[in-house]
Amino acid sequence: MLLKQYIFATQRYNEMIRLAIFASGEGTNAQSFIDHFKGRKEIGISLVVSNNFAAKVIQRAMNAGISHLIIDKQTFYKSDEIVTVLKQKADFIVLAGFMWMVPENLIKAFPNKIINIHPALLPKYGGKGMYGMHVHEAVIADKERKSGITIHYVNEKYDEGKIIFQKECNIHPSDSPASLAERIHELEHRYYPGAVEKLLLENIS
Ligand code: GAR
Repeated sequence: MLLKQYIFATQRYNEMIRLAIFASGEGTNAQSFIDHFKGRKEIGISLVVSNNFAAKVIQRAMNAGISHLIIDKQTFYKSDEIVTVLKQKADFIVLAGFMWMVPENLIKAFPNKIINIHPALLPKYGGKGMYGMHVHEAVIADKERKSGITIHYVNEKYDEGKIIFQKECNIHPSDSPASLAERIHELEHRYYPGAVEKLLLENIS
């Protein structure tokens, strides 16, 4: 409901919906958002936020001429500074390989406006410690036949927010965690920006 009201308001004033992307590493998902929304008038990337100054995602933001912000633990968890900045610069937050838990003040400031992607079929293989390659290692160790991606809202608990979208893929007997990670990345790049766009635009009509 809040989402709906917000989008009505932005459309009425003909403003762009601004996405902030949070990422900690390579940023290939962040790149897929940058490419997907390049030159678009109704949705755009206004800011890239990272907890890692050496992350490749920072270079990707600079290459695309997008502002970036490096956060430290103290500021992120013990102050409202990031909330203040985000409130000025973004309407929605997209987590794209962001490895820190989102603090409660930020979740409260952006209700139903923070979205995450998880590289498995939640609720399996979620929770603390389940991120990046650890997820694929666990899935392969369990000899699962399928994995996939989950796009979901972020709440106060790791990987437990309402699911928006899931897509499965098969796991082959010869798969390693690395080859599975590659297949999952392809799915993420193909579906994540479009799923977020659909979510935002569907709520306009
Ligand atoms: C992605 O596979 C994403 O699903 C995962 O980290 C990778 C980041 O890749 N996120 C999590 O594990 C969150 N729990 P990228 O930096 O190349 O986008």
